[in-house]
Amino acid sequence: MTGAGSAGRGLRAGAAASFERNTNNDAEPLLAVEDLTIRFGGIVALDRVSFDVPEGSILGLIGPNGAGKTTFFNIITRLYRADSGDVRFQGRSLLRVPAHEIVSLGIARTFQNVELCTRMSVLDNVLLGCHNKLATNPANFLLAGLGWPGLNGAERGAVAEAEEMLEFVGLSGFGSRVVQGLPFGVLKAVELARALVAKPRLLLLDEPAGGLNATEVAELGRLIKRINQELKLTVLVVEHHMNLVMAISDKVVVLDFGCKIAEGTAREVQADKAVIEAYLGADEDD
Ligand SMILES: Nc1ncnc2c1ncn2[C@@H]1O[C@H](COP(=O)(O)OP(=O)(O)OP(=O)(O)O)[C@@H](O)[C@H]1O
Ligand SMILES: [Mg+2]
Repeated sequence: MTGAGSAGRGLRAGAAASFERNTNNDAEPLLAVEDLTIRFGGIVALDRVSFDVPEGSILGLIGPNGAGKTTFFNIITRLYRADSGDVRFQGRSLLRVPAHEIVSLGIARTFQNVELCTRMSVLDNVLLGCHNKLATNPANFLLAGLGWPGLNGAERGAVAEAEEMLEFVGLSGFGSRVVQGLPFGVLKAVELARALVAKPRLLLLDEPAGGLNATEVAELGRLIKRINQELKLTVLVVEHHMNLVMAISDKVVVLDFGCKIAEGTAREVQADKAVIEAYLGADEDD
């Protein structure tokens, strides 16, 4: 997906194992969305939306422009405040968790419009993803990319993990490059590495295929599968690229004008009349 060659090798066993997993098979889904509602003035951006995200699954969240997909991610990551309803992660409501604690709980995201520090190196951007795990001076920490010798053990470990994650997303050798001017596919991969290095249980991807070419989209699909299967992350992916969503998702939820209009397997939602109408416009004879 990166234009930098195919995605890298797997993680060493220890690194993969350090993505802690919940091994009990409770009925409680990893993420439970209940009657979630948010309004912006007269617009109901999400209207009593409910669905579950089972642990270990890839869930595709789709819908036409303005359906409420990014708004949903923004509620989970506490950028937006819901008007009513609830989102529970591992049984705990997220709606009272301060925004800065969301990553520590095990939720990481990428953004629809890539958000990186463009004047910093690739490695330093990735390191920002694990700052919550290190009681360290960020200035000292960010000198890691320059080979600063004064790092403590935890900081050196973070640098090694960041480099390993860059290799996992196909960007080995890119660490010292300054972000500004790099191809868009590389920027998307850097953001993904930054999310992964936080070692989340739940990964939120907002249009990861946006702006990628066909080869990169195919690579991205394989990479998301590996993230799900090798790193054992639950993945919630918002995407307009239907071939990608349908190929990788265990379940697909469809939003339209803030309402959930369908939920099921890729095959089920593709055959759903309301979904076809939402994408193509209603048949006037109906
Ligand atoms: N901060 C905001 N203030 C006002 N309205 C907003 C805000 N954020 C989102 N909206 C509105 O909420 C609705 C849903 O927007 P959202 O960005 O969630 O859609 P989306 O499904 O992500 O669309 P796209 O596929 O185009 O990214 C839209 O009508 C949008 O204009
Ligand atoms: Mg969006």
